[in-house]
Amino acid sequence: MNKNICCIGAGYIGGPTMAVIAKYCPDRTIMVVDINQKRIDAWNSDHLPIYEPGLDELVKKYRGKNLFFSTNSVEAIKACDIIFVGVNTPTKTFGRGAGYASDLQYWEATARNIAAAANGDKIVVEKCTLPVRTATAMERILSEHKEYHFDVISNPEFLAEGSAIRDLEQPDRVLIGGHQTPEGLKAVERIADIYAAWVPREKILTTNVWSSELTKLAANAMLAQRISSINAFSALCEETGADIDEVAMAMGLDKRIGPAFLKSGPGFGGSCFKKDILNLVYMCESYGLQKVADYWRQVVLINDYQQERLLSNILKTMFNTVANKKIAIFGFAFKANTGDTRESPAIAICHMLLEEHAQLAITDPKALTHAQEDLKGYPGNIVFTADPYEAAKDADAIVVLTEWDLFKTLDYERIFKVMRKPAFCFDARNCLDAVKLKQIGFQFRGIGKPSSDSTETAGH
Ligand code: NAD
Ligand code: UGA
Repeated sequence: MNKNICCIGAGYIGGPTMAVIAKYCPDRTIMVVDINQKRIDAWNSDHLPIYEPGLDELVKKYRGKNLFFSTNSVEAIKACDIIFVGVNTPTKTFGRGAGYASDLQYWEATARNIAAAANGDKIVVEKCTLPVRTATAMERILSEHKEYHFDVISNPEFLAEGSAIRDLEQPDRVLIGGHQTPEGLKAVERIADIYAAWVPREKILTTNVWSSELTKLAANAMLAQRISSINAFSALCEETGADIDEVAMAMGLDKRIGPAFLKSGPGFGGSCFKKDILNLVYMCESYGLQKVADYWRQVVLINDYQQERLLSNILKTMFNTVANKKIAIFGFAFKANTGDTRESPAIAICHMLLEEHAQLAITDPKALTHAQEDLKGYPGNIVFTADPYEAAKDADAIVVLTEWDLFKTLDYERIFKVMRKPAFCFDARNCLDAVKLKQIGFQFRGIGKPSSDSTETAGH
């Protein structure tokens, strides 16, 4: 048994997680491998493939010492007794379960690669998010290998992008699920030992494999459900004259509810919430739990509705037409502090605006390259610029879709002067100073904020 660790999949999960392990476990060699040569080249260069606060410094400090990136998975599997699997598990786009089920082809290919390259007993750690009972399938594939013993452990990751390093260094908990057998428990202990290098033991929870797999899906579903709940209330606020930020604040003071994840916005984005809920819906349906499936599907439907609502508000406020009007899109990333645009609400909202023949000027401090790829081939007039002042020049409206600090500190008097009048501002993140912008002269609309035509008695 050696202490080397390999991670298959050098993405948003594999890269940061292994960099943090390299920092706290100097006595271990960490090998991160991927089939994507371009991605590995980027990990080995000055321009890492992902933006994450604190990641650059960490990788540059440990790379070449005890942290290595390569495409040679065979060598890494042979050199390491502990193998984390952090490959992508997107929503299936074809065949049975298309649009709902997890596409497990990358995960299965990894299992087969491990079986083929293994030269001794291994602990295989599911780091990616998977349907419950996937560990059984992994065990089934690995058990074809008669010579060696494999333990499959579930160790889901709860980090959020934009705060990945902080979340990894100070997690609320680390969850490790294993079989309740002597070998299974021993394997769980070996994984717990890795985290114990920096995480207090009482925060390292151990459960059975299925609880661990389901907890990951359940946690994401609960978080996304809070966002859809607050966004559903934002629609009611706009009709009734209530203010969603006041409602969220007052509700969140109830300790049983708590203040986190009650920020209304353009709907949740990111690579996981939608994918994981759809996977949950598919799983429930496959167990015949139709009512449970319908309940969770509604979380995704409300998310889509929030984006359609935003477009309706823009159209209604701008005299029912945006054709040939220039709209400055402030922010394309799915949240602040990341360059990631996967499932970003900005994609759907830009598509809808382009369908209305708007001209778009998109600005974002970190996500412009991805934005260009996301909108590639889409018919319409789109420019991309890193300069928000340039984006706003001659624009009819600004639409804030990502809550970057940068957008909060811009000189809005200067922006107002170069915009066409009336100058509209739709703050879909409620992150700007509404009072100040209205004073400057903007026709300002937030999300879940009373509009001028709402009345005290509407709905009665
Ligand atoms: P990603 O797409 O950024 O990275 C996955 C990587 O795996 C890719 O670089 C891909 O080339 C590589 N890969 C695929 N098949 C491979 C193979 N056979 N051998 C070697 N490499 C292979 O995905 P991600 O965002 O890092 O997510 C990975 C998993 O982690 C998903 O299941 C996701 O749900 C889960 N997760 C992600 C986050 C997040 O914040 N992104 C958080 C928690 C959990
Ligand atoms: C989320 C979870 O928070 C992580 O715990 C989980 O590990 C991860 O998914 C995953 O499995 O991939 P992430 O998607 O990176 O992390 O980012 P979040 O901070 O959760 O934000 C997700 C989306 O919800 C963003 O678009 C964000 O703007 C939106 N959001 C979040 C709101 O609209 N309101 C809120 O109050 C919070």
